[in-house]
Amino acid sequence: MPSVHQGNFSNRQTQFSVRRQKIIQQRKSLPIASVEKRLVEEVRKNDVLIIVGETGSGKTTQIPQFLFDAGFCRDGRVIGITQPRRVAAVTVAKRVAEECGVELGQKVAYSVRFDDATSGLTRIKYMTDGLLLREALLDPYLSKYSVIIVDEAHERTVHTDVLMGLLKSVQLARSSSVSGGQGLNLGNKNVNVTLEKENDQSGSVRKKPRHEKFAPLKLIIMSASLDARAFSEYFAGAKAVHIQGRQFPVDIFYTLHAETDYLDASLITIFQIHLDEGPGDILVFLTGQEEIESVERLINEKLPQLPQENQKLLVLPIFAALPSEQQMRVFAPAPSGFRKVILATNIAETSVTIPGIKYVIDPGFVKARSYDPGKGMESLIIVPTSKSQALQRSGRAGREGPGKCFRLYPEKEFEKLEDSTMPEIKRCNLSNVILQLKALGVEDILGFDFIEKPSRAAIIKSLEQLFLLGALTDECQLSDPVGHQMARLPLDPIYSRALILASQFNCLEEMLITVALLSVESIFYSPRDKLEEARTAMKCFSSSEGDHITLINVYRASNDFLEKRSMEMSTTKCEKVYKKWCKENFINSRSLRHARDIHKQIQEHVQQMGLNLSSCGDDMLQFRRCLAASFFLNAAVKQPEGTYRALASGQVVQVHPSSVLFRKKPDCVIFNELVQTNHKYVRNLTRVDYLWLTELAPQYYAMQS
Ligand code: CDP
Ligand code: MG
Repeated sequence: MPSVHQGNFSNRQTQFSVRRQKIIQQRKSLPIASVEKRLVEEVRKNDVLIIVGETGSGKTTQIPQFLFDAGFCRDGRVIGITQPRRVAAVTVAKRVAEECGVELGQKVAYSVRFDDATSGLTRIKYMTDGLLLREALLDPYLSKYSVIIVDEAHERTVHTDVLMGLLKSVQLARSSSVSGGQGLNLGNKNVNVTLEKENDQSGSVRKKPRHEKFAPLKLIIMSASLDARAFSEYFAGAKAVHIQGRQFPVDIFYTLHAETDYLDASLITIFQIHLDEGPGDILVFLTGQEEIESVERLINEKLPQLPQENQKLLVLPIFAALPSEQQMRVFAPAPSGFRKVILATNIAETSVTIPGIKYVIDPGFVKARSYDPGKGMESLIIVPTSKSQALQRSGRAGREGPGKCFRLYPEKEFEKLEDSTMPEIKRCNLSNVILQLKALGVEDILGFDFIEKPSRAAIIKSLEQLFLLGALTDECQLSDPVGHQMARLPLDPIYSRALILASQFNCLEEMLITVALLSVESIFYSPRDKLEEARTAMKCFSSSEGDHITLINVYRASNDFLEKRSMEMSTTKCEKVYKKWCKENFINSRSLRHARDIHKQIQEHVQQMGLNLSSCGDDMLQFRRCLAASFFLNAAVKQPEGTYRALASGQVVQVHPSSVLFRKKPDCVIFNELVQTNHKYVRNLTRVDYLWLTELAPQYYAMQS
């Protein structure tokens, strides 16, 4: 009946235009709207501009649109905006596409590792800082960009820091190309401006002459921290402008005593707010996917025990590996009568602004990278936040009206916190960054113009690791083809090396699955109260050889399950039974799906590189030998008392209880991850033969003995 359809359609159309009106209204009411003209003027006048403004003032969503409207995308040029986190790049691009009334992927799009939504039409491009660094490998002058905005610069991720150094020299080279000047100066090596890198079949990079002049590049550094001095000094006294934010008062509450279990304390506080406080959504800061999912489960288990009228609490998680449709749910208003409780990682500190928040719960912790150059080991540790992080977190409660922040630690602890977080470049393994800088033509890493120099010891240790992995020659040049191939893969050097080796060991299929699964948070979930059940469920997948083969077994079993069911039933039904299957087997379906996406992307990369995509079939000995050859830097031998000694660092470590080798410990293992809680644990282990290490990694083990 056409009239019914028409009715529905116009109804939808009305809803649509109401939403558009609301968005237009919201845009106009942002603090930044009144300074559009001035900002555009400042960008025209200054080659480098620093913009400082409180979270939620509209920097990320509005400034690229202002510049687009002011003509900065003429001649098909692109405005690039970098974010430290993929979640921010994806959600903000979606928001801005909606504000512009265009489909995502056309004028406005995002590109993050393993997920590129851009097209030839894209003019406003949100991406991660790491991705732009990779783009520079293919286009050293970033020639399609008229403006590059480095957003969230106060976060000082290692990629942001390196990117700023790179952009500084690209900007110089592009402006001098207009005046007929010299080439790209990265450290002590000049790359001629008329050279363009082009990939040949072998995956190595060669140079091809090109005669083109570049338009100047505008740089904008955006930060939510009020102190712009460091950035301004780094960019030769660049101008900084401040945007007024809108901040309502936030009452801060502390606990009387230190909490022993902050997850439990968070849970109690969530319910206290829900039952005792007036309307308004709750934002809880947790350290990662596992914590978020565990609190999510606990809330949903406890909720039915409340009286019916108090059950209207909607739990919404947001973290990097969450599928993007689910990430977007945190931005939608809660259904009438409901209160939202958002469980977030530190992504919600400044990178994304979630409307409706009135209460913030801050346990005071964050997951951070930590690196010990002496031992050459990087680990993820949960550490107290800095004061500035705590302030950003509490600020989230006062965006739309007065709010409350519950810090789950005593007030005297706040005073003990560091003022600000140490830049990541000072606490991470640098081999990835060095590999990329080398691929960009930087010869003297120690002489590179970093905004803050990493320690000499960390640089030297990372160079040494790259040498041991075969990426660098004796002269510290990128090796051909291995070093170049490694630089092309968007993975940690150690994983890139593993894939290249696997193609020689005829087990690339197995290694691809392994690397994809190691790139996501654990695919297993074992709720504390169901540990035994989870262990029993795991039995049918577990391999006595170790966790890597166990992971492969799960991946293959899930693939078989999906393949079979997808032939028998509709996609929705299939998805449902798949989730049920995952649940019964204590598998995290979200992580597994994420791993499957990553697998697909890396497979495309290695195929383009012409690697030999073969499987070792049932010959897992071959695969284990390949693991030993790849991860020899992470080998450990059993000590008489049942702990292990990591061979490279001499550290005493324990097998993580989640490992299939926890109960039956072999003499020698390789591992992938070191986690530090009250003990040092190694995760993802496989049994290897000690003699393989000297046979397969003589460059290291011959040297040791
Ligand atoms: O970058 P900055 O923190 O200055 O602000 P923004 O991210 O541009 O956000 C400006 C406004 O857009 C905020 O008040 C958010 O409420 C809104 N916004 C939204 O509703 N949904 C998004 N996905 C992103 C932003
Ligand atoms: Mg922002």
